[in-house]
Amino acid sequence: MRRATWVGSTIVVAGPASPSLAAKLAEALEARLVEVESKLFPDGESYVRLKGGVEGEDVVIVQSCYQPQDKHLLELLLLIDTAKDVGAGRVVAAVPYLAYSRQDKRFLEGEAVSGRLILKLMSAAGADGLVTVDVHSEGLLRQAAMPAVSVSAAPLLASYLASRGLKGAFVLSPDRKREAEARLVAEVLGGEHSYLEKTRDRVTGEVRTEVRRLPVGGRDVVVVDDIISTGGTIAKAASIVKAQGARRVVAACTHPILAGGALERMYSAGVEEVVGTDAVESEVSKVTVAPALAQGVRRLLKLSRASL
Ligand code: R5P
Repeated sequence: MRRATWVGSTIVVAGPASPSLAAKLAEALEARLVEVESKLFPDGESYVRLKGGVEGEDVVIVQSCYQPQDKHLLELLLLIDTAKDVGAGRVVAAVPYLAYSRQDKRFLEGEAVSGRLILKLMSAAGADGLVTVDVHSEGLLRQAAMPAVSVSAAPLLASYLASRGLKGAFVLSPDRKREAEARLVAEVLGGEHSYLEKTRDRVTGEVRTEVRRLPVGGRDVVVVDDIISTGGTIAKAASIVKAQGARRVVAACTHPILAGGALERMYSAGVEEVVGTDAVESEVSKVTVAPALAQGVRRLLKLSRASL
């Protein structure tokens, strides 16, 4: 394993997937920002170049791995390797959306455990630590060979929702496994929270959500999830609360992946507004995760020289 050197100052590198988030993070950390030149060669191969020196410095590379995931991931690996190669001290990968984290184990025989491989690749490229936001599986991070932390965007989303007049709203997690996020948001909004039971067919991807009686009649409801991909999960939850008389339904998530027709699917189910963060840059990214990311980076950089 390569040995990291302790140094005092910090540089934030603006990966091509997250330039504006990187600028906000640099401001929060009072760090120097280094931009990146990136392009695709005519045959589709990726090119990156650091546009500033990083020698002897702690370097935080900000690159979210949303779609096109594989391109963003390769750019991240190239940047980590380059930073180390030109003499950076410790390199922290700040990857708000950790692609493939839903494939954290082998669900069906013969499947790739993609999430684990992504962590191995980052370590092999030279990353000394990883900070991500609302990782889908904490268990996946425990498989990392480097210190890896996930910070929560829930308090930031909750403050935004409060400013949109949603104080006291009923907060619903569309899946029991994500109930913790709903609880955090409900704590700030000062209302109740609950969850639905969801199952997904591993082969077809179809989502089934059990209908439960909830105290949502005449009330505003915020449905909170970590990821909105097709929007199917949120749409099911929205239809259930709408059928029980909910007034305004707002969907909130950390990672607005918004694959093919997701917004339309949710709006047709009765969702009035979708709120996401810039962990994934999208048309609904209304909240920045920079403060949470900065906390995570500080935590990692405070770790002793031996463990980073
Ligand atoms: C899955 O377990 C996640 O927490 C999300 O609920 C899921 O990724 C959302 O996917 P979709 O928007 O496609 O239903």
